[in-house]
Amino acid sequence: MSEDALFERLWDDYVQLNPDATSIRRLIENRGERIVNDHIALRTFDDARVGLDWLAAPFERLGYRASGEYDFTAKKLNARHYEMPSDPNDGGWAAPKVFISALRLDEFSPDLRRAVSDLLDQASPAPAANHDDLDLGRPWNVSFETYERLRAESEYAAWVAAFGFRANHFTVLCNALSTFEDLAALNAFLKTSGFELNGAGGEIKGSPEALLEQSSTLAPHVDVEFSDGTHRIPGCYYEFARRYPGPDGSLFQGFVAKSADRIFQSTDRR
Ligand code: NI
Repeated sequence: MSEDALFERLWDDYVQLNPDATSIRRLIENRGERIVNDHIALRTFDDARVGLDWLAAPFERLGYRASGEYDFTAKKLNARHYEMPSDPNDGGWAAPKVFISALRLDEFSPDLRRAVSDLLDQASPAPAANHDDLDLGRPWNVSFETYERLRAESEYAAWVAAFGFRANHFTVLCNALSTFEDLAALNAFLKTSGFELNGAGGEIKGSPEALLEQSSTLAPHVDVEFSDGTHRIPGCYYEFARRYPGPDGSLFQGFVAKSADRIFQSTDRR
């Protein structure tokens, strides 16, 4: 599968869970803009069957390379970002980065570990080690009762249990837009257009000094089928990033754990 085809599949799946993204994209494009995707983010559990390496495999096969490691102490996550080596002949923006995080199960209660292990045991088909195509979605059944039990310990664990493997968010690169002066202007436009932004820790996470500013919508609630009924829970959100040049003059391409920490909360139940 080509890079374009994989990202198109991820986008089509993502907008099912976040129809707002389609509307926002259209609103921005109606201003004559062309949207550049800075990165997508995927979530998983730190279990050998479905860990970071497993989730990264289809991207590595396309040529993506591990480019940065992150530790989210409070949320108990490891994360890594992947970049496609840029083609010097391609004068445009680089391919989207891929940000993958994994929940450190060994830092949670035996109850949570058992619940997650039960999900992975019943994953059907069992996750293949050498997959070159992401099998999008949730390969297990889960009850709303389990979802709620996981959520009591980790909103992140509950989200992965409910949605499985898919893009948790896409990210509009603010630098590539010409009709918004900065991220604050883009945020103001989104709010005027009726979208709710994640205000945890301030609408803009990060700073020019940190070389990265990010904001995001709050994930709209979507119907999810559980083994004991359908429930409305937060799905996926849309993110916006503005990058600044580092000491070498080129745009910073990494991530900042301190600011991403609050962004994770965009999918919290409210
Ligand atoms: Ni992100």
